[in-house]
Amino acid sequence: MKAERVVRGCFALSLAASVGLSLVYLAGGSRAWEGVLLAAALGGIAVGFILWATRLIDAPDNVEERREQKPGEGLGLISEVLEQSVTGVSRRKVLAGLASGAAASLGAALAIPSLSLGPQPGRSLFRTLWVPGIPAVDSEGGRVRPEDVPLSGIITVFPQGSEGAGDSQAVLLRVAPDLLSLPEARASWAPQGCLAYSKICTHAGCPVGLYRAQARELLCPCHQSTFDVLTGAAPVFGPAVRPLPQLPLAVDEDGYLVAQGDFSGPVGPSFWNVTQ
Ligand code: FES
Repeated sequence: MKAERVVRGCFALSLAASVGLSLVYLAGGSRAWEGVLLAAALGGIAVGFILWATRLIDAPDNVEERREQKPGEGLGLISEVLEQSVTGVSRRKVLAGLASGAAASLGAALAIPSLSLGPQPGRSLFRTLWVPGIPAVDSEGGRVRPEDVPLSGIITVFPQGSEGAGDSQAVLLRVAPDLLSLPEARASWAPQGCLAYSKICTHAGCPVGLYRAQARELLCPCHQSTFDVLTGAAPVFGPAVRPLPQLPLAVDEDGYLVAQGDFSGPVGPSFWNVTQ
């Protein structure tokens, strides 16, 4: 009976601690109290189950000698056995009820912090600020013509009106058009040999800010991922496995570079549903 009381006490403690944990969290939270209550909730349920398994379900083999039965004694024995089993069942029910209550309230207490999660990103990780027809500008907001782009260097460009936007920045460079070996669907994306790729490395998100003009490779200084600009920025060295997304370019009627649309894929490192 003593062990049973202890088990009940452990489950009741766990239940109370879980309810307390929820209340403390909903009231604004306190790291110290949340830690204490979580320890009590987990510890109570763990100790309760251990004691239940080791002290209450322990059923040693007992052999009772058969004895002579006197007339009329059977009825008394039967009622005694029935009484014991009813008491046993109700005790088990109490214990099981307490254990279920403790587990359910602990589950609820652990689920409540999910309310603190921020809004879902939705499609925002797949889009940037580049839209069809928007001019490509440098960090000062100046528009760029193809002939402004050096053959041996790069310019960082943004969609006009969003200079400095981190996820939309692109490196703009120029090569001789006859060197290009882009996929067929991108044949019109590089007017006069001008190419624009996302500046965010697809390995871990560093800015891809170095250009080896002779090798026509973009280099990320963080872990040396190297991208071949002539073939659509496919990785040729280093830990990155995904090409830098390409920005489709066009030249407007005034001779300035504009975007035909958004990048060819999500920018930056891969995430849960972008593995390549
Ligand atoms: S972040 Fe670019 S190589 Fe690692």
